[in-house]
Amino acid sequence: PVIRQWTGLEDLGTELCRKLGIQKVMVVPGGEDGDLSKRRMARAACSYMAGVLEKGSVVAVTGGSTVAAVADEAATAGLPEGMRFIAARGGTSGDVKSQANMIAAMLAAATGGGWTPLHLPETLAETSIGPLLEEPSVKEAMDLYDRTDCIVHGIGDALELARRRGADDGTMRKLNAEDAIAEAFGYYLGRDGSVIHRLSTIGLSRSQIDRIPHPLAVAGGKEKAGPILAYMKQAPAQTVLVTDEWAAREILRLS
Ligand code: G3H
Repeated sequence: PVIRQWTGLEDLGTELCRKLGIQKVMVVPGGEDGDLSKRRMARAACSYMAGVLEKGSVVAVTGGSTVAAVADEAATAGLPEGMRFIAARGGTSGDVKSQANMIAAMLAAATGGGWTPLHLPETLAETSIGPLLEEPSVKEAMDLYDRTDCIVHGIGDALELARRRGADDGTMRKLNAEDAIAEAFGYYLGRDGSVIHRLSTIGLSRSQIDRIPHPLAVAGGKEKAGPILAYMKQAPAQTVLVTDEWAAREILRLS
């Protein structure tokens, strides 16, 4: 029965892969128990990374509880030693374990690698961006973004993420009015994948993401089906999605 279940999930992954137009979809069982599902997705993400990365690879990470789970599973996942981890964005308020910098540091500790900090607030005034780009530590981060081999990122619900970030009323109204559904890398997206709003930030840019050989999106649970679907409308074609069965079935129902 276990083998049948996994075979079914492989078929589900293949069907989703075709629908979403990305490179690969890995589906783990279940989804009703969020924490268990995140651990399973994290194991699957680590096994994918173990297969494509090597000593010296540069891995960028975003924040969020799903990517944090990847760091929790990394110690026993057979990942190569000597990789370099970097946060794809600066810090926010909220759970310290879900901060991109913390996740990068934890991944380095778990795998015998190094990490490069990006000690900036995630949201910046437009006028601060230029001067900060001259900082040596920011230049170092920018250089790593240009040669990132893998980005491990979550996909969020647009309004929830905007609330978590303490977005102002005008932004909330815009996101509501234009029916923003997904958030990734500071981009708020509509159902058709169009960009509705962008955070004023320093981090991995969209053009850099497009050039990364292994973009790895990790997101599951029924409520993430809409955000995943919207994000994948504009995702780089080489994207690999790790999701769970609940999200996978809901995506197929919605698409
Ligand atoms: O940045 C946040 C992620 O996009 C989603 O966060 O994994 O906690 O749902 P999560």
